[in-house]
Amino acid sequence: MVHVSSFRKCVYILLACILVFTICLWKETRRGVIFSLRLDGRSDHMPWKMWRWGTSKEEIVQGVAANGTDKVPLSTKSSNIKINLSTKVIRSNLVMKTKDFYNALKVWNKDSSSQNLHPRLQKARENYLKINKYRVKYVGPKYAHKVRPEELLCQLRKRLDFRMITAADSPFNTSEWEPYVPKGNISIKLGRCAVVSSAGSMKSSQLGMVIDSHDAVLRFNGAPVRGFHFDVGEKTTIRLVNSQLITVEEKRFLTDPQYNFGTLILWDPAPYHSSIEEWYKKPDYNFYGSFKNYRKKYPKQPFYILNPHLQWQLWDIIQENSPEDIQPNPPSSGMLGIVLMMNFCDEVDVYEYLPSKRQTNICHYYQMIFDQACTMGAYHPLLFEKNIIKHLNKGKDEDIYNYGKVTLPGLRNVQC
Ligand SMILES: *[C@@H]1O[C@H](CO)[C@@H](O)[C@H](O)[C@H]1NC(C)=O
Ligand SMILES: *[C@@H]1O[C@H](CO)[C@@H](O)[C@H](O)[C@H]1NC(C)=O
Ligand SMILES: *[C@@H]1O[C@H](CO)[C@@H](O)[C@H](O)[C@H]1NC(C)=O
Ligand SMILES: *[C@@H]1O[C@H](CO)[C@@H](O)[C@H](O)[C@H]1NC(C)=O
Repeated sequence: MVHVSSFRKCVYILLACILVFTICLWKETRRGVIFSLRLDGRSDHMPWKMWRWGTSKEEIVQGVAANGTDKVPLSTKSSNIKINLSTKVIRSNLVMKTKDFYNALKVWNKDSSSQNLHPRLQKARENYLKINKYRVKYVGPKYAHKVRPEELLCQLRKRLDFRMITAADSPFNTSEWEPYVPKGNISIKLGRCAVVSSAGSMKSSQLGMVIDSHDAVLRFNGAPVRGFHFDVGEKTTIRLVNSQLITVEEKRFLTDPQYNFGTLILWDPAPYHSSIEEWYKKPDYNFYGSFKNYRKKYPKQPFYILNPHLQWQLWDIIQENSPEDIQPNPPSSGMLGIVLMMNFCDEVDVYEYLPSKRQTNICHYYQMIFDQACTMGAYHPLLFEKNIIKHLNKGKDEDIYNYGKVTLPGLRNVQC
């Protein structure tokens, strides 16, 4: 008897321990454990978690109530009937507005400011502004006024040079490069396109079939399809890769068969508005060997190098349309991929660049890395890029909330 009861005690204690442990773990997960905040290095992260703007339910409701009452057309001159009527209207307005407010807060706010960032990310931004690695000397206008989406589209259309490096561009016009560099500029014309971010929130999105229903799909860096097709689809028309990915050996760029599909476009950060020659002498990653080796191995696959002008032309537009100083580092691969597809396609659906309700602390859907910088940006001026994409969105907030989906027009069709 004694034995049995002490055994039971042990079991109970064990169960209690497991319970406590589970609760602790759950709480930690909810809080969002933040692992390595990589402030340097070019971790080219896609978004993962919208910052919680610190608005409590009470504040939201109060905000609505305050604004609601402000707008009450309470005029002592109006008749009793009218006052009673308007009171009813105001009531129903209030209910509707409260709902809208909740929805609005769950999608990206296009006026997000660095003040809303976690202090660590604010510090990172300030440090990058101090370091100014690419020697950015911006002299253009700064947020003179908030431009309409149509004007912003015209800026993108008129000021971005989407040319690829060709065999005619010095210093690639040598016999050493001749076998490897494409002879002509890229020539792609596409219909409805999808840009698939690598965000952790792509996981369990079940968007695979929707994504594959597009005429063309752009993916980033090492984002895998195999094993994830239910969420991210299978089609890969273009893969935008950065020079770090193709240079660093652990990334297995030369051996992993997932890179053998579609057209590859490579980019590397250049000094601010440098010439191709200047950049060639000082690339961020010395990718030349890897590029040539890949071309030797797969000579038939189209593989372009993006001209380095595009990144800073785009950066200038982001800065011009932001009320604050943005990080003086190139835009993210995400932003570059989006504008590339806007140039190639009639219409572009972007998935999980602006986070949906599935927002998570996980950086990539295929890796267990947790980092706040992935959504809000540390190295890249991600916050400001996202403000712009939100401003340009032709789709509904609901689609952002449910699918992380933003719809953008092709630049070809933009009337300026
Ligand atoms: C209420 O309205 C004022 C003025 O229109 C605006 O500045 C403020 O942001 C509004 N508050 C909310 C919670 O929308
Ligand atoms: C409003 O309606 C109520 C009944 O619902 C009525 O008693 C009242 O006289 C009306 N007028 C005002 C000014 O409240
Ligand atoms: C290169 O091709 C892109 C995409 O087709 C196009 O937008 C761009 O204008 C071309 N540039 C030149 C100089 O031909
Ligand atoms: C490459 O282009 C530059 C500038 O156009 C020119 O000066 C140079 O001679 C060219 N090099 C070769 C090998 O053709």
